[in-house]
Amino acid sequence: MIMASPWSFRFFLIFLFLFVGKALPQLGWIMIGIAATIVFIKAAYKMERLPGRIMDILDRLTNKSALEKKYSDQQRETKQIDHKQLADYLKSKLIGQDSVIDSVTQQLRRRFAAKRPGKPIAVFCLAGPPGVGKTYFAKLLAKKLYGEKDNLLFYDMSLYSQPHAASSMFGQAKGYVGSNTYGSLTAGLRDFPNSVVLLDEFEKAHPEVHKRFLTAWNDGFITEVSDGSHIPTDGAVSILTTNAASKSLDSLTRRYEGDQRKFSDMIKNVLKEADFAPEVLSRIDDYFAFKPLKGLDIARVVALEIESIVHQYDLKLIEGGIDSQILADVLKEEEKYGSGVREMARAIENKIADSVIEAKNSNAKEISLRFDGDSIIAFIESYHNGANTDAPHLNDRLQSQANSSIKKPDSAGISGAKAKLS
Ligand SMILES: Nc1ncnc2c1ncn2[C@@H]1O[C@H](COP(=O)(O)OP(=O)(O)O)[C@@H](O)[C@H]1O
Ligand SMILES: [Mg+2]
Repeated sequence: MIMASPWSFRFFLIFLFLFVGKALPQLGWIMIGIAATIVFIKAAYKMERLPGRIMDILDRLTNKSALEKKYSDQQRETKQIDHKQLADYLKSKLIGQDSVIDSVTQQLRRRFAAKRPGKPIAVFCLAGPPGVGKTYFAKLLAKKLYGEKDNLLFYDMSLYSQPHAASSMFGQAKGYVGSNTYGSLTAGLRDFPNSVVLLDEFEKAHPEVHKRFLTAWNDGFITEVSDGSHIPTDGAVSILTTNAASKSLDSLTRRYEGDQRKFSDMIKNVLKEADFAPEVLSRIDDYFAFKPLKGLDIARVVALEIESIVHQYDLKLIEGGIDSQILADVLKEEEKYGSGVREMARAIENKIADSVIEAKNSNAKEISLRFDGDSIIAFIESYHNGANTDAPHLNDRLQSQANSSIKKPDSAGISGAKAKLS
């Protein structure tokens, strides 16, 4: 079979038209009509294919399938946040800061959904007195948002109190010591573009250092000084924490809580009075104030702290294992420590450490903490070798101790269990 070229086929059609037109004029007109319709449809089809042609350019000039994959990965990165689930997680860990948690998670949901190219996802400032969970909150957020500990880029800003201190973050100019390696922030964001950048106690850094962040927040990139390369910051959530002006913030919290917009402006004004540069303040997307912890919330946080101290010694606290008197005494000393739990937890750690170590050295697995006059006792509830299966429940023993001082249970497994701290 002879394969005709398109042109020979067209010539054949023209001859056919002429022939049919001469012999049967009406049929000729019909054929011309059909040919015109085909030409018209073809032209319209070509015009509609214009967007398709752009993809053809991609086929010709790049690796289209690799590009499509990258593009769909990027789309996935603009992830939807389940802000309710995130808020629930944060509330299960962070005590007494529910309204901050609600506001931050709502804001994050919007910001992740409408991720702006060339802009960081968010720049938030968390203000409030020391020891109320600001730093802890940022760490929890990084863990929940990104899941890996490498995705928290943590900076203790008190280490950057000199004007040139930022060079270790942003890199060092050529010819200076350290110019052969990237700065810690530029390297961190290069390797982990989707991260929480925690600038802890931001007010303690030098104002010159503060200003180095303006490009990061305005333009969506930072410049690595050693080689001038631009590192994108548009996958990052930056969190600044500050203890500045916490007294004035406390009264604001009581007045404006519930109206986040107004509250945020008020916090900004207070920080302006506390000598934050206006250009830095105006580039922060939103401000949130942490409340001082009060009453039983302090007891909750201290109880969690005690539990984590016990875990650090590879021991477990049994359920109900902290004598309520220990926590009641902490609350009595609230005035002495202020609202921050750090000092309280340290004081308790000092009180229980020896006793807990003694329990651990006795091969203990589970303990309870009892109040004994002016000391705290780590009471062994079970051993690693399982010897203590018949240990009486704490409540039973508390009953039996109502008339007497703390006694070692008679069970063989418990012998030598009591470690007393003087
Ligand atoms: N509101 C809170 N809920 C739970 N734990 C808290 C809270 N506040 C403080 N803590 C505990 O105390 C530690 C110190 O708190 P931190 O976040 O450093 O305080 P801040 O940054 O506000 O000074 C935290 O690591 C956490 O274990
Ligand atoms: Mg802190």
